[in-house]
Amino acid sequence: MIDLDQLSLDEIKELITLAGSIRKNPWAYRESCRGKIMATLFYEPSTRTKMSFQTAMYRLGGEVIGFDNPDNTSVSKGESLKDTITVVSGYADLVVMRNPLEGAPAAASLYSKCPIINAGDGGHLHPTQTLTDLVTLYNEKGRLDHLKIGFCGDLKYGRTVHSLIRTMTRFPGSSFVLISTPELALPKYVLDVMDAAGCSYTITDRLEEALPELDVLYMTRIQQERFSSREEYERQKGIFVLDSEKLQLAKPELKILHPLPRVEEISVEVDSDPRASYFDQTVYGVYARMALILTILKSQSRPEKRKIPRSTHPHRCSNPKCITQTEAYLPRVFREAGDMLLCAYCDSGTLI
Ligand code: CP
Repeated sequence: MIDLDQLSLDEIKELITLAGSIRKNPWAYRESCRGKIMATLFYEPSTRTKMSFQTAMYRLGGEVIGFDNPDNTSVSKGESLKDTITVVSGYADLVVMRNPLEGAPAAASLYSKCPIINAGDGGHLHPTQTLTDLVTLYNEKGRLDHLKIGFCGDLKYGRTVHSLIRTMTRFPGSSFVLISTPELALPKYVLDVMDAAGCSYTITDRLEEALPELDVLYMTRIQQERFSSREEYERQKGIFVLDSEKLQLAKPELKILHPLPRVEEISVEVDSDPRASYFDQTVYGVYARMALILTILKSQSRPEKRKIPRSTHPHRCSNPKCITQTEAYLPRVFREAGDMLLCAYCDSGTLI
């Protein structure tokens, strides 16, 4: 599970339905993963994703191993991703991985003896947050079609935004308002997905103007850790802040989502507004991940040893944050799109 694009819309809907059944009757599932082990390999900090995965596995009756600081593992002695994953996938039935390098879970899946779940790879994708967001929207809005969703803040580095937009373009009638500064605008490869799906979208830097028309507002944090300098971050922070005054402009049935952590982009006073759904969203995340773990472990006998693809081009990916920059043994695999080569790990485009 590297990207939700691997699933059909029906499979995504089945996961949402299963999450709903688990939420209604969690006790019925408490032995479902007895005897199974999940490894959580977090090369980057996390509160919600790591702990909701762990909670999900414990509530399904399984066990958890793993690390949340690679400095305390043999990664600090120079062990490659390939070797770490080869070893850990021999211990566990399922690996959940977060890594600051884009495409790392896709790279790990080449060498893993068990299924890999992408728990966030740099500024690229975060599919299980998207599953969480879908479960939240389905329960809080009652539908996933014909929603106008405003995305506000760091649309450049916000992997949760990239993943959710890509998936929402598959639901009928989705439309988007992209609210950011020009410096933190959505990457081209996500705009291309919206264009290809024929979704309507507008781009603005005025939250107040966008608010009245929205069914959902998806706020995001400015991702300080992804900026190349502190000065660049300082120029972007604090530009978009949702407060009670601005919320007066919004529909009464608006739902406000945020993947969290929040820094200062939503005032604390908004927390008590009935439209604020971001803390409920963290609870839906446990049911979403229980449904995903259960489905993967139920459907998957241990995969056959994978055939490692051969390099398709001599080029190296030009994205400095791509996993291929540090793990030199990885085959250089691209797909062609017009005059661009798209990296199979991080989706970045390189001009041919
Ligand atoms: N939403 C999310 O990914 O939060 P964490 O970074 O705390 O896991």
